[in-house]
Formats: sequence, structure tokens, C-alpha cells
Amino acid sequence: MILSLKGIKKYFPVRSGVFLQIIGWIKALEETDLDIGENQTIGVVGESGCGKTTLGKIVARILQPTSGKITFEGIDISRKIPKEIEKKFRKNVQMIFQDPFNSLDPRMTISEIIGEPLEAHEIFSSKKEQEDYIKDLLGKVGLSSDYLSRYPHEFSGGQRQRIAIARAISLNPKLVVCDEPTSALDVSVQSQIINLLTRIREELRISYLFISHNLDVVYHMSDKLIVMYLGNTVECGDANEIFDNPLHPYTRVLMSSAPSWDPENRKLHKITLTGEPPNPMNPPPGCPFSTRCTLKIERCEKEKPKLIGDEKHKVACFLSEV
Ligand SMILES: Nc1ncnc2c1ncn2[C@@H]1O[C@H](COP(=O)(O)OP(=O)(O)OP(=O)(O)O)[C@@H](O)[C@H]1O
Ligand SMILES: [Mg+2]
Repeated sequence: MILSLKGIKKYFPVRSGVFLQIIGWIKALEETDLDIGENQTIGVVGESGCGKTTLGKIVARILQPTSGKITFEGIDISRKIPKEIEKKFRKNVQMIFQDPFNSLDPRMTISEIIGEPLEAHEIFSSKKEQEDYIKDLLGKVGLSSDYLSRYPHEFSGGQRQRIAIARAISLNPKLVVCDEPTSALDVSVQSQIINLLTRIREELRISYLFISHNLDVVYHMSDKLIVMYLGNTVECGDANEIFDNPLHPYTRVLMSSAPSWDPENRKLHKITLTGEPPNPMNPPPGCPFSTRCTLKIERCEKEKPKLIGDEKHKVACFLSEV
């Protein structure tokens, strides 16, 4: 196991007034469990604001959780950790962001951008060795080695994302969090980046936490799947199993509204979602999905269903409890 999250919560304070008093909390992530094994891709889906990036940033240790426990290769890293463990973690867990226009420092050359983590971890003893390695990496992500001394603004979105990928894999990590890595790109470029990520996964045998709006992409990439709604995991398990037999009404909605998802089936079972998700500062007392669920029963508004089932398939819905 690379990383294991147990009961992770993340609440963001909401402040107001001249003294910026805390007037409430945005419950971005509730009681989340997640195990990421070696050479495994875990897809994370759910609509905007459901907490996907928050989960990704907690996994990549960019954000600290409000509560819960995280272990990295068996070591508890939930709170402050010794420098060597931090360094080992940084080497092994990387993140690729949605927007390649903001994620690369515009003042640094490509060689500096990719070289930065290599220098921080003192991987090479000479500049020449490092440069050869970076050239090799650029080749791996489909870029010319002539680009070394250029700056990010000289590249297209797709090329920048390739640079971000080269930087993310430069230290041979075990896990890369990919937060919507293609959604800021042209449709024509999206599949090239997906293919590149797939090839890299096969070559380096790394794991991905793959966050995406696109169910088609998630379906093709993922071994496991997490469906999130308003900070909660509402369904999770083996991706095939969930795609074949979605149990949560929200998962069924997602699948029926995916643009290219099984068009024949979609015609028969088109389910539309009306209204907005509730305010995460003030979630409903029962099931988080109860305010929009067409199948809800009385119990759903009073009690919050627990995530139950086996490792292959878990769901948090009273309708699935028999
Ligand atoms: N730093 C922050 N401070 C306050 N609230 C935050 C912060 N980061 C995220 N949030 C809130 O937490 C909730 C979850 O946000 P998050 O960015 O994780 O959602 P998401 O699923 O990634 O959405 P999207 O699909 O739009 O990227 C949202 O209500 C968001 O407004
Ligand atoms: Mg996000």
C-alpha cells in the first residue's frame, strides 16, 4: 500500500466582519477513507465543488486534513513529520494540475522547471548528467530536447501539460495525483495527453489518483472508482463493477448524462438532475443527495446512510440496504 486515508475530513473556515471572525465552515470533505495501492489507477468523479481537488491536495500533502489519519508506506504522516520522511514523500507523490498555464513558473526555463525537483533531491552530481536526463524525459513526454532553454509562454496548453508531466515523473514517483489534467485543453489534444499518461503508467508502473469530469476517460483509465457528492464518497469500488452496476442514484445520474456514455442505454434510462447541490456550509442533515434525489424515502432526510458493502463495491444509500 502506498497511501492510506482513514476518516479524513477537511473543513475550511468562512470568515466575515472587520475582525474576520469565523462564521461557519465549508465542509469540503467528510469522513473519507481511501487506499491507494501500487500500480493502481483510482478515478474520482463528481460535480463541481464536491471536494475532488481538496481530496487530491490532501493526498499530495498540499493541504492538511482537519481530522483523520494518513499513512504513507505504513508511516503515520497525518501531522508534522521528520524531514527525511517529508523528503521521501515528496519524491514519491506528485501532482499535475488542471491548468498548465498557471502551474508552470513563467520566469523559469523548461530545464529549470524540470531540474528543480532533481536538484532539491540531489539526484545528479553534474549539470551535464542532469541535462541529459531532462532531454531524455522530454523525449518520453513527446517533446523535443531543443526546448530546454525555452520558457512556458512559448508553448501550447498541451505542450505545457507535457512539461508538467515530465516534471511530475522526473523523480520516479510511485503516485501521481492528476487533477483534471485535460479539461483546460482543446478536445483534439485531450486524448493525446490521456494516451501519454496511459503509456507512462505502463512504463513506470505508477499509480494515479485520477480526477475527472469525463466519465469516459475515467472508465478507460481506472481500476477503482470513487463517486463523490458534497464532500462524501457515495459509491466506490472496482471501476468495472460500478460501471456495470451503478447502485447510487447519483452515480446513475452521472452515467446517464455523460456525453458519450453508452448512448443506447442512455436513451432508455435518461435521468436528469435538477437544481443545484446544497451549500457545503449547511449540508442537509440526512443523505447529502436527498434534496435532489427522485427516489428518496422519509428516512433519507433524517439519517445519513453509511458506506456499506465489500471492497469490490460500496454504496451509501438506504435503497441498496436490504
Ligand atoms: N482554500 C479554500 N478555502 C475555502 N473553501 C474552499 C477552499 N478550497 C476549496 N473550498 C471549497 O470546498 C469545496 C470543495 O472544493 P473543491 O475545489 O475540492 O471541489 P472540486 O470537486 O475540485 O470542484 P471542481 O470540479 O470545480 O474543480 C467547495 O465548496 C469549495 O468552494
Ligand atoms: Mg477541482
